[in-house]
Amino acid sequence: MDELKIEIKNLTKSFMGGEGEVKAIENLNLSIKENEFTVLVGPSGCGKSTLLYMLAGFEKPTSGSILLDNQIIKGPGPDRGFVFQDFVLYPWKTVVRNISFGLEIQGFSQKEAIEKAKQKINLLGLQGFENAYPHTLSGGMKQRVGIARALAYNPKVLLMDEPFGSLDAQTRKLMQEELLRIWNKEKKTVVFVTHSVIEAVFLADRVVVLTDRPSRVKGIIDIHLDRPRDYEHTYTDERYIELREKVLNILKDEVIHHKQHYESV
Ligand SMILES: Nc1ncnc2c1ncn2[C@@H]1O[C@H](COP(=O)(O)OP(=O)(O)O)[C@@H](O)[C@H]1O
Ligand SMILES: [Mg+2]
Repeated sequence: MDELKIEIKNLTKSFMGGEGEVKAIENLNLSIKENEFTVLVGPSGCGKSTLLYMLAGFEKPTSGSILLDNQIIKGPGPDRGFVFQDFVLYPWKTVVRNISFGLEIQGFSQKEAIEKAKQKINLLGLQGFENAYPHTLSGGMKQRVGIARALAYNPKVLLMDEPFGSLDAQTRKLMQEELLRIWNKEKKTVVFVTHSVIEAVFLADRVVVLTDRPSRVKGIIDIHLDRPRDYEHTYTDERYIELREKVLNILKDEVIHHKQHYESV
């Protein structure tokens, strides 16, 4: 747990648009340890997705660097899995093919790819839905497929961009508990973005609060709550409630207009 996995150094990212330069991130520094569960929270539009895309290698820093296992990230790779907010499944492919497809592109034979996909189907509790098409699945089930697909290569790092944002409250809690169960079993370094302080504190080893744009680290809160966690016990734990308050207070000036929103989700 003490091994350094990701090191973000003086990271700056700006975009050139019609109205000139937009600075999304400026001089952001953050270190993440192996197998740590880090949750990023921050105001809407502050650069959270941009940061995750750079970790994934989809986007390049304007300046500064991101090291993964002491190597500069140069592009996407099977050592990182990505889970998007919108489920982005191929509508014309079945569940098993949605998961196995990327593995085949990586060079696995169809047989091997389907074998690996089936392992993740079992892990995510999707047995019986192998041959279903995405439109027949509920939001929660679609996101299980999204997570299974991200885990299919056995990546060491799992990047999750508001993955449960469009689920109903009940399904969302269930998926959070499921994610912790999987994380505990598979041992991954997770970087998870959310709008919800309730979700952040429930999941995290550390909650990293980002400033409004351009984004920097405003505060880091260690979440020393016992694991395994489940809503039945954690939700009423006084320390959990205090930690939520603490995160909200750090976030407050950044999102003064959205405070209600952060308290309600
Ligand atoms: N490809 C892009 N081109 C231009 N501007 C972008 C691009 N991607 C993101 N931005 C801008 O960067 C800022 C941060 O965006 P984003 O990372 O999506 O924020 P968040 O995920 O925190 O809501 C926003 O102002 C957004 O408009
Ligand atoms: Mg985003």
